[in-house]
This record gives sequence, C-alpha cells and structure tokens, in this order.
Amino acid sequence: MTRRRFVQLSAAATALFTAGGKAQLLYAPSLTYPAVKVANLAQVRTGEPIPFNYPDASSPAILLKLGRPAMGGVGRERDIVAFSALCTHMGCPVQYKGGRLVCPCHYSMFDPAKGGQCYQGLASSWLPQIPLRIDAKGDIYATAVMGLIWGRAKNV
Ligand code: FES
Repeated sequence: MTRRRFVQLSAAATALFTAGGKAQLLYAPSLTYPAVKVANLAQVRTGEPIPFNYPDASSPAILLKLGRPAMGGVGRERDIVAFSALCTHMGCPVQYKGGRLVCPCHYSMFDPAKGGQCYQGLASSWLPQIPLRIDAKGDIYATAVMGLIWGRAKNV
C-alpha cells in the first residue's frame, strides 16, 4: 500500500468500532489543516510555478498552472494544482521543468497532471498533492495535504 493510499484510507475511514450497539471512534487522525492563501488567479501564469509554504513555514510547496486539465485541478480549465515540493525519496526540493516535477538529486520525476504520480526514479510514492479552493475574489487557498510530507511523522 502506498503512503498516499494509506493516508486517503485513514482520512476517509475514521474507523468505527461497534461495541454493544454503540459506535466508537478508534482512530481520529489530526486532519485540521489551515486554509492559507497562496495567490490570486490574476497572478497565475501557465508554466510559471509559484513557491509557497504549506501547511507551515518549514514545508515548501509549489503551485502550478499546467495549461491542461489535471487530477484535482481547480480554475476554469481545471489546470491549477499544488504539491509538496519535497521529493518523496529523500526530501530534495523538486523543480518544475517541461511539464513535470523533477528531483535534481536522483532524478525522480512526478506528473503534476496525474496527482503527483512518480513515473521514474528512486522515489516510491507520489508527491503529496495539496487540494486547492478558489473564492469569489479569485484568491486561491491551500486547504489540506493528500499524503505524508517527506520527513514527517504527521503533516500537522
Ligand atoms: S531525493 Fe529525489 S530522487 Fe532522491
């Protein structure tokens, strides 16, 4: 099971245990993420990444407008996505090059249009995707992290 799948299951499952007809919460992971403004739609350009930190100052992340629809993409073209910028192999900061996220340390490559899927290199799990929300003013907010950020026991 991948780390991403584990976190998805943990978040979705909030496992319930039935004892004596009463449901009891066995596992309630801390999923209280801050909503952090990353940029406004007016600032976002195709192919020009916007670095930010999320969910805290020690966690680099990257916002991208891909110019093509993407898994989890927001905006009119569903092409705006964000990811943790720490490679899932050993935590080097990934860079956006030629439509993909590339780790300069050992050359793992991740597809930002496919949820951060690793398709080449030593990394064994996907880059954690950061779900986004856009408000009526066009402000783009980071709202959570789908998957465990490299080097952490928990994201928040
Ligand atoms: S740290 Fe990214 S591939 Fe090794």
